[in-house]
Amino acid sequence: MPSMINTAPESSDTERLIPPLDIAWVRSQFPSLTRAIDGHPAAFLDGPGGTQVPQGVIDAISGYLRENNANTCGAYATSCNTDRIIAEARSAMADFLACDPDEVVFGPNMTTLTFGMSRAIGRELGPGDEILLTHLDHDANISPWRALEERGVKIRFADIHEEDCTLDMEDLASKINSRTKVVAVGYASNAVGTINDVKTVVRLAHEAGALAYIDAVHYAPHGPIDVRDLDCDFLVCSTYKFFGPHMGVLYGKRKHLARLQPYKVRANTNAVPQRWEWGTLNHECIAGITACVDYLAELGIHAGRLWEHVGAGALTRPSLIAPSGTTRRETIQLAYHAIRTHERKLAERMLKGLAQIPGLRLYGIGEVSRLDSRCPTFAVRMEGRTPLELAIRLGERGIFTWDGNYYAINLTERLGVEKDGGFLRIGFVHYNTEEEVDRVLDELSG
Ligand SMILES: Cc1ncc(COP(=O)(O)O)c(C=O)c1O
Repeated sequence: MPSMINTAPESSDTERLIPPLDIAWVRSQFPSLTRAIDGHPAAFLDGPGGTQVPQGVIDAISGYLRENNANTCGAYATSCNTDRIIAEARSAMADFLACDPDEVVFGPNMTTLTFGMSRAIGRELGPGDEILLTHLDHDANISPWRALEERGVKIRFADIHEEDCTLDMEDLASKINSRTKVVAVGYASNAVGTINDVKTVVRLAHEAGALAYIDAVHYAPHGPIDVRDLDCDFLVCSTYKFFGPHMGVLYGKRKHLARLQPYKVRANTNAVPQRWEWGTLNHECIAGITACVDYLAELGIHAGRLWEHVGAGALTRPSLIAPSGTTRRETIQLAYHAIRTHERKLAERMLKGLAQIPGLRLYGIGEVSRLDSRCPTFAVRMEGRTPLELAIRLGERGIFTWDGNYYAINLTERLGVEKDGGFLRIGFVHYNTEEEVDRVLDELSG
């Protein structure tokens, strides 16, 4: 069906064209959101470290363990069911990423998958070859590549604009040349929230004949991913950052997954993508991955219904509203429109509030007019208090945040804050509320 979803404008002028988030329905899906700490309602502003999970994910994981716990490829019911459950999760992630199911690789987490893939790519590299990384990235998209220095590969770094923590695209472009074999870049920064222009990075990499490896771990809870549109060679994400279980997922173009040689045990199949999955996987979590994607799809359907209810539905095709005839991919896209609308509201409130707090410094994009270029992930420092002191104080009041470098150690070093405790990171996702924004602002002001 023609994609009205893809073309819906996102500026605030045309907000009525964008489906709203059914926040009451959203929060009712997450049992943990009702927790209290010493009488304070828990505010989970720790999403960048890992999000909460909806009941559907919890049920899928426990249901698998209760009814189908087995290893794969056996000639009996629970094993056959396990094979089917894994295949369903591959299809779910294919809908999530806009690829084919056999381009989806499961692993324990993004870091492990990246070490595995970088080892395989590195087998073909040696002295004279270069890999380009960035100072904005999480170390999981740095150290696995730096490990190839032992083969004589030269590692280079694209710099950032210090004033707003965006990638210096000119510097990046100038460091790509005919010796560049891989450009590994994050889709969004887990520390300061910057969303990078990864489509341009992929194009620049390809023009030089290099592979483009995208770390979408931080971006995934905030925006829709379309690997075909990006044309990236690889993209990695972690389901525990977008409302699923603790697992990692790697997308690879089929031609690369077939041609590159993984380090693997002989008995493992050579089939794609299973040749990239070593040992027994976490089947119960894989069952949870399908439930996590289905949660997002359902969120999209709810957003569509709410949209219709408020009268904007007349502006779009009825099939977007009715589940029948709408694909899971389309409802996921609808969900992300609703998520982005809601997160924008939170981010705008947060930026305006942070600007009023004396002695507070925000690292990253601070202008409301540039919200399209950032996630609602805020890194701050406060005069006279360490990030750890702030995190402890907030934690005592039921507000969960992080302090430190969150493994974005190149960035904290580049900005000179590593030795002083890094940043306090306050991260919102779509289940957070404006009231929670106000609570954290009040606490920081006090
Ligand atoms: C941007 C980013 N990349 C990579 C990782 C590592 O992911 P994993 O824990 O799945 O290895 C993280 C984890 O925080 C992250 O935020």
